[in-house]
Amino acid sequence: MTTSQNPRHFLDLSQVSKDDLRSIIDDACRRKQLLPGGDKPLAGKMLAMIFDKPSTRTRVSFDVAMRQLGGETLFLSGTEMQLGRSETIADTARVLSRYVDAIMIRTTEHERLTEMAENATVPVINGLTDDTHPCQIMADLMTFEEKRGPVKGKVFAWSGDGNNVLASFAEASARFDFELRIATPSGSDLDGRYIEWARGEGAKILTTEDPVEAVSGADCVVTDTWVSMGREDRARGHNVFMPYQVNERLMAHAKPEALFMHCLPAHRGEEVTDGVIDGPQSVVFDEAENRLHAQKSILAWCFGEVTPGSPAHG
Ligand code: CP
Ligand code: NVA
Repeated sequence: MTTSQNPRHFLDLSQVSKDDLRSIIDDACRRKQLLPGGDKPLAGKMLAMIFDKPSTRTRVSFDVAMRQLGGETLFLSGTEMQLGRSETIADTARVLSRYVDAIMIRTTEHERLTEMAENATVPVINGLTDDTHPCQIMADLMTFEEKRGPVKGKVFAWSGDGNNVLASFAEASARFDFELRIATPSGSDLDGRYIEWARGEGAKILTTEDPVEAVSGADCVVTDTWVSMGREDRARGHNVFMPYQVNERLMAHAKPEALFMHCLPAHRGEEVTDGVIDGPQSVVFDEAENRLHAQKSILAWCFGEVTPGSPAHG
């Protein structure tokens, strides 16, 4: 392992500079054009991937990304580690730092991620917590820009639960200068500290309980499950969310060329209809593919292989 007193963590979009985030997306677009295996900057590096929650896209895209960059991965199920028998996150971070070169963790409380980062001497990447999902938003913004050009000044509308994906969208609105309009039902609003932080950084964010107000004239409409992992108590509230379903009627209020995004997995007939997710405006599988390309650039950035202004993404 390569240890450092100041490893480059990828924890949240609010903790990475605008220039670095831009360089990661530009690098991902460039890397997407390369043949897999043609560029192996992470040869000899080992990524440990800890999952305290299920995953398809995050697990597979990090695994394939690391291998295509020349590195290797270890899959670790949180419940099968001593973590599951109450070894501390801090001690786990110290031990893993002696074996591996980077740690990606998908976990429950956000504090588990930050405790891992505070105690690791290798880079730590947020693969989703109860609070945020920054890697997803990097792939989403890359996808938008491939289809519609720069996100700066564009309008993104969210209709649904005020969850972890939305929190990272709110942080992204400040980092990438797009407008965010959020429609959530009362009681499922996004935690106000994300909105306050983003507005403090100059972001333009509207919050409403009216999905039509949020979606009207939007360049991109985004939603996600009404029942995030670990929040199954929400299952009782589906009738509350039904007015926020992204269906053909709601999409008709967006710009005609608006895109539809969803991080997946989708619950068809709940937060989105088949007609929308399978329709011509949907880019959900491009988002899923771009997780791979964005992941590569996030990993490369953590290892100092991507820096603003470097020729690699010029
Ligand atoms: N979008 C996303 O993070 O998917 P997984 O839960 O399958 O990783
Ligand atoms: N909000 C969802 C995202 C899944 C990728 C969850 O946390 O379950």
